[in-house]
Amino acid sequence: MRKRFVLMLAVACCVVAAAVLAWRGVHRRVGNAADVDKMIGTAMAIHTPLGLPPVPIPGNNPITAEKVSLGRALFYDKRLSSDDSVSCATCHNPVLGFTDGAIHSTGVGGKTGKRNAIALLNAAYDPAFFWDGRAPTLEAQVGTPMENPDEMNQPHAITVAKLRKDPALQRQFAAAFGPGPITTGKIEMALASFERMLISGNSAFDRYEFGGDKTALSASATRGLEIFRDPNKGNCAACHTISSHYALFTDGKFHNTGEGVDAEGNLTDLGRYTQSNVDADRGAFKTPSLRNVAESAPYMHDGKLKTLDDVMQFYAGGGNSNPSLDKEIKPLNLSARDRADLVEFLKSLSGELPANAGPLQANR
Ligand code: HEC
Ligand code: HEC
Repeated sequence: MRKRFVLMLAVACCVVAAAVLAWRGVHRRVGNAADVDKMIGTAMAIHTPLGLPPVPIPGNNPITAEKVSLGRALFYDKRLSSDDSVSCATCHNPVLGFTDGAIHSTGVGGKTGKRNAIALLNAAYDPAFFWDGRAPTLEAQVGTPMENPDEMNQPHAITVAKLRKDPALQRQFAAAFGPGPITTGKIEMALASFERMLISGNSAFDRYEFGGDKTALSASATRGLEIFRDPNKGNCAACHTISSHYALFTDGKFHNTGEGVDAEGNLTDLGRYTQSNVDADRGAFKTPSLRNVAESAPYMHDGKLKTLDDVMQFYAGGGNSNPSLDKEIKPLNLSARDRADLVEFLKSLSGELPANAGPLQANR
């Protein structure tokens, strides 16, 4: 009896210790403790339009008006790149659904990466970032493109040194974080706060589905929605989720749809497997949200499918055969009209873009 008690006590201690370590780990990822402690500014709420749930905000990076407007300025600031030629918006352009319209993005010196830029709208709801989910938080994600040689190609120390020379920007940092030097942690927290504001909802679909306006969708889009949901027809909602009170159009998980398989049947990009080393994750990528998808062509992680019609042809064919193909992907019995209806439905997902998300002044 006593032995069991001692054992239970030991287990309880381990659990508490692990929780404390995990909590500290999270804090360390989001800037350093000093940045967190000195947080000041005007608290604000993110308006959530029809069709979306409240935006999750991490406890150690509360949303303030000052951080969001600083993040907005940084998002369009080319000084974040080594030759002052590339800003976040170069690849995540607000008029293209926060993508760049290219198959592969072009960074500093004309270098191109391997993957298609992901639309940033509604990223705030995602449990992990990048096509392979390699970044656990928006704060942790931001630093990656800044240092990536194919993207902005600039070590953090240089970015910080460049920004510290700008007195107006210094003042903006002070308004958001209190006195003290500009740090990488503060840059990350401000950019992540701005990204959490990039919400799109209140589309024709939302007004039809959640607002009770049955005239909001055309007859064709309404048929498309039925096909999208029907497990025996499109089966799309199996991964692009529609919940009872809101719709994110992603399950936040990774699936192999067969996109990115070459003529010999080999995967051209291992996707999630590069992070998890789990065989089933070979060629699996994060389910993208489909909101404003009509504006973010070309499609898929490799940007290979040029139009929404091409995407429908791809799914109708059941993806490309490969050993890790998801069990929900199979040849679909979709007529030309069914495919056209699905495209009409996808177009109905273009909602209101957030106010105050564009550049403040002409890009530097
Ligand atoms: C040269 C082009 C380029 C630049 C510059 C760039 N990105 Fe990206 N971004 C991409 C590409 C490509 C991906 C997808 C890469 C992958 O998944 O491996 C991506 C992915 C992301 C994601 C993940 C979204 C999701 O839903 O998973 C976020 C967030 C993001 N970028 C924000 C930023 C921010 C903030 C900046 C500026 C600091 C920035 N990006 C600069 C091309 C770029
Ligand atoms: C097994 C889960 C699953 C099912 C079922 C599914 N999708 Fe997807 N969808 C994904 C994943 C994962 C991706 C990204 C794949 C990639 O890039 O390789 C994707 C990508 C897309 C894209 C491209 C979005 C972009 O931003 O590039 C569209 C459009 C799309 N799906 C629509 C549909 C439609 C319509 C259906 C039903 C006919 C459907 N999906 C069924 C998981 C799924």
